[in-house]
Amino acid sequence: MFATTHLLLCPYTEADLDDLMHLRNDPRVQPLMTTGDPAPHRDGPQFKKRLRTQMESAVFSAIVRRRSTGEFIGQVVLHVPERKNRDGTYGVCLLPAFWNRGYGSEVTAFVVDYAFRWIGLQRLSLSVFASNERAVAVYEKAGFVIEGRKRASVWSNDRWEDVLFMGILRDEWIERISILEQ
Ligand SMILES: CC(C)(COP(=O)(O)OP(=O)(O)OC[C@H]1O[C@@H](n2cnc3c(N)ncnc32)[C@H](O)[C@@H]1OP(=O)(O)O)[C@@H](O)C(=O)NCCC(=O)NCCS
Repeated sequence: MFATTHLLLCPYTEADLDDLMHLRNDPRVQPLMTTGDPAPHRDGPQFKKRLRTQMESAVFSAIVRRRSTGEFIGQVVLHVPERKNRDGTYGVCLLPAFWNRGYGSEVTAFVVDYAFRWIGLQRLSLSVFASNERAVAVYEKAGFVIEGRKRASVWSNDRWEDVLFMGILRDEWIERISILEQ
């Protein structure tokens, strides 16, 4: 388990599955996912299996809890599908009740640092809807830059969404921490 200023990053256990289902089925959260189900509210065993696999197949994943109360807040996942290239993919998802309190920025800063410092990645990548301005703001604050835009590529909530591809390179992370440590 890891602790940041306000959060705990706890290992995933089977007991967290219902909280994850609730999070990922939330009608304010589900339409923001760039991959996965086209429609909200999946509660079948296949969806549960996918959520479990997502957590268990990650190089790093955590259930995010509030440090002061232990409450479930959300999840973070870091996969490395391109092992040869040390290219990781990052995902974060928090319950709406905890948005806009700085938690997304706090946990993202932690995972970016972890990915380069401990996993030795060359780059960390992600995709996000261009309309998800809150998420884009969090990623930019953590050092990600926009690398590309796939126009009108994902159908979500009655419209086509542009998807942004964002990334941060190891050298950029090194530059950021050397400035922070000065
Ligand atoms: C995206 C998410 C992780 C962000 O976490 P959060 O805790 O809400 O974000 P924070 O409070 O740390 O920071 C939000 C930032 O966005 C800014 N922001 C909020 N709404 C905004 C908007 N509409 N436009 C631009 N910026 C916005 C805030 O000002 C803040 O920046 P600041 O700290 O510089 O002021 C969280 O909202 C979430 O889980 N959303 C649902 C799932 C999701 O979208 N995941 C990402 C999919 S790729």
